[in-house]
Amino acid sequence: MARIAVIAGDGIGVEVTAAALEVLRATGVKHGVPLDIEELDYGAERYLRDGTTMPAGEIDRFRREIDAIFLGAVGDPRIPDMRHARDILLATRFELDLYVNFRPVRCLSDALCPLKRKTAADIDFVVFRENTEGAYVGMGGNFKKGTPDEVATNEDVNTRKGVERIVRAAFAYAVEHGRRRVCMADKSNALRFAHDLWQRVFTEVKKDYPQIETRHLFIDALAMELIRGPEAFDVIVTNNMFGDIITDLGAALQGGMGLAASANINPSEALRRPSRPNGIGLFEPVHGSAPDIAGKGVANPLAAIQTVALMLENLGYEGAAKDIARAVQTVVNAGVFTPDLGGSATTAKTRDRVLAALG
Ligand code: NAD
Ligand code: IPM
Ligand code: MN
Repeated sequence: MARIAVIAGDGIGVEVTAAALEVLRATGVKHGVPLDIEELDYGAERYLRDGTTMPAGEIDRFRREIDAIFLGAVGDPRIPDMRHARDILLATRFELDLYVNFRPVRCLSDALCPLKRKTAADIDFVVFRENTEGAYVGMGGNFKKGTPDEVATNEDVNTRKGVERIVRAAFAYAVEHGRRRVCMADKSNALRFAHDLWQRVFTEVKKDYPQIETRHLFIDALAMELIRGPEAFDVIVTNNMFGDIITDLGAALQGGMGLAASANINPSEALRRPSRPNGIGLFEPVHGSAPDIAGKGVANPLAAIQTVALMLENLGYEGAAKDIARAVQTVVNAGVFTPDLGGSATTAKTRDRVLAALG
């Protein structure tokens, strides 16, 4: 039994999650995957109604009782400080210690490839984004806030342990998945302490993987190279904030935000159970709540649907995951595109075509 907690969240998060859940349920029936799906109402509406972001103890309950968490998206213009998102998304990443944010970037069709003189085959790499430290830890503060002399800081926290485990995870993935090259991106030319640590760790860890070709790029150069020659990349490892930015770029290489999936995981043994052989994970599309198109029924559900495939794969249901990937490929090949991809399909139509392709 796969026990899945679902937080649809805000904006198009609600719309794409509804579509993705239908695909999940249909896949569960087809492949005999017993599902126990618990839908939770955490998000902006709940927070504005009764002040609840995440109930106390909820993340501990996930650790005990849940195998995977599926999140649509959080973010609402009425909550500009993202208070609820910190408790729902960032707290789950931090408290479950989901240090790998795995974000695959693969272009499914030449029709979606945004680069001149490149084809879909040139865009196929994965990003290992560090997910538990860096500039995201919330250390910092204000001094003389609101005055002309205001000081504002956010510390960029990098630990030896944290850097080493994400770099090792990237290499281990490369070996296990037959990927030849690992590229580490930092900004060690400017950030002489924190990113020098990344340099030293990378130099040390790569010695354990002599079969892997390694490369270092400063993050600004990586942004340029990903446009100029994406075919040169297999696995990219970088810190939390750079990984956030570079995976939106990656989403654009896939065809758009509506196609990019992600998994937040901790591959260490402590979190494993028979029902979750790879530990508990938080699975979410890379995109946000897209207030500009929310409520119109035109959000692209394919990112969320591909995220379901990532989740099932992580839970050990590889056949079911592959079947969803095949169905999505069929729909893309048929040119069923929502407006973000230049088409006129609705969320519902795209979902129905995926369901039909699943059979
Ligand atoms: P966004 O990803 O929501 O949207 C960026 C652009 O991409 C918009 O033009 C949007 O219409 C388009 N887009 C995104 N997903 C799409 C989809 N599935 N189909 C079609 N078009 C899609 O980023 P943003 O506008 O910077 O952020 C909106 C809110 O979402 C903010 O509050 C932000 O903090 C939050 N956010 C949340 C997450 C998350 O929950 N994981 C991720 C990113 C942003
Ligand atoms: C993402 C999002 C989040 C992040 C925001 C909503 C805090 O952009 O998952 O990519 O920066 O991690
Ligand atoms: Mn992001």
